[in-house]
Amino acid sequence: MSFDLVFFGGTGDLAWRKLVPALFQAWRHGKLPDGGRILAVARDERSDDEYRSLICERFGNVESAKRPTDDEFARFAALLHYRRMDLSLPEHYAGLKHWVDERGADTVVLFLATSPHLFPQICAQLGAVGLNGANVRVVLEKPLGHDLASAQQINRVVAASFSESQALRIDHYLGKPAVQNLAALRFGNALFEPLWRRESIANIQITIAERLGVGTRGDFYDRTGALRDMVQNHALQLLTMIAMEPPAAGDADSIRDEKLKVLRSLKPFTPDSVGRDVVRGQYRAGTIDGQPVPGYVDEVKVPPDSHCETFVALRTEVQNWRWAGVPFYLRTGKRLAARDAQIVVNFRPVPHPIFAGTARANKLVIKLQPEDGLELHLLAVKGGSSASSTPEHLSPVSLDLDFDKAFLSERVGAYERLLLDAIAGRLNLFVRSDEQEQAWRWVEPVLEAWRNDSTGPRPYAVGTWGPPASSALIARDGFAWAEEE
Ligand code: BG6
Repeated sequence: MSFDLVFFGGTGDLAWRKLVPALFQAWRHGKLPDGGRILAVARDERSDDEYRSLICERFGNVESAKRPTDDEFARFAALLHYRRMDLSLPEHYAGLKHWVDERGADTVVLFLATSPHLFPQICAQLGAVGLNGANVRVVLEKPLGHDLASAQQINRVVAASFSESQALRIDHYLGKPAVQNLAALRFGNALFEPLWRRESIANIQITIAERLGVGTRGDFYDRTGALRDMVQNHALQLLTMIAMEPPAAGDADSIRDEKLKVLRSLKPFTPDSVGRDVVRGQYRAGTIDGQPVPGYVDEVKVPPDSHCETFVALRTEVQNWRWAGVPFYLRTGKRLAARDAQIVVNFRPVPHPIFAGTARANKLVIKLQPEDGLELHLLAVKGGSSASSTPEHLSPVSLDLDFDKAFLSERVGAYERLLLDAIAGRLNLFVRSDEQEQAWRWVEPVLEAWRNDSTGPRPYAVGTWGPPASSALIARDGFAWAEEE
């Protein structure tokens, strides 16, 4: 199958850091279909060879196992092309269409890795020159809008040129192997399904913690904040995968219909509940591993009086028969104690204890990163003879599944997987417009309440798990975050 993959924003951060390295891995693993061309589009004048040299230099920053040898790069680089485009000029889109039509590839994937404010303009122009035929798909990188109205506006413009099945909204968390394994765990195995409900589960915790700060993205981040950057998309997508009903079939719409129902069942926020159930924080200067680390407001391009949140913890519920009354806690932040993304499903304790030390209950930990795996925490007796009449003592013990070891082959990274899916037209791991809009609808009251609250985020020291109010939020229900147990 021949394909053309065109990146708008071909010299941007996303292209350098994620897209080209992911395509290289796909090529190296022999997964990229033969007969492909990759075209980077950007504003500056440069030749194909100049672009290839830039990419070659950039590979210097990639971890060594993922760096091409000279020979590999020479062969991979033959797929890379470059084209200068001024995105405001219709004739430049006509030129692109000509480039695409001349070859007539089976599939054309147009990846918008530009600033999202350009999406409407690019989509309208692509439609105007007819670069939206049935073999064309457009991939939209987040953030799609900054609130419900702006997301709807983008979706309207995209829909004027591309059908829903041609518009692929990326949430790269859905491409992570652990998330696909979550679907496999729930719908490919019968074991957990009978337990996957309010009668057996006490609470669910979703944590996406980062060690890094905002780096050089201060201006973007300050307009965005953790709620828009991580909760509205990544954390909520994880929640839908945990809470959704088993879909009737494995096709994209059957899955997305079920995810949408979860988003619609989330307990809506009110101005009062935002104060009670949502904690926002901002990191302050400190040290990590003995090294001084600046606070958020001292980062490049961040205003000194910024109220932007770099941490969010919240409590919600999925209001349906399966989950009524089960708290879902979501937490994400920058400059936290560890890079750690995981979902913890805490089961209820046994109804009638006969062993000593049964204060703990079972839990299932779905680990997304740094490594990806599953841990099932059980309780067991250590063994040995006990002559006394006191009850046996239970100790925690866990069954650990490390997917890297279980599947010795190379695991496919999130962007690699999603790019290959975009080329193949597999839509399961892309977000439909109604899901995305519903997620915005749910976070809007929080944004609104924060706008009206001049107190701003709570401070937390770098290298911690966020402001103490985050622990208090969960302690109120008699629970604790996994690392505090
Ligand atoms: C991006 C956010 O979507 O996800 C970044 O914009 C964040 O702020 C990143 O750092 C985290 O992704 P990952 O895959 O490194 O956990």
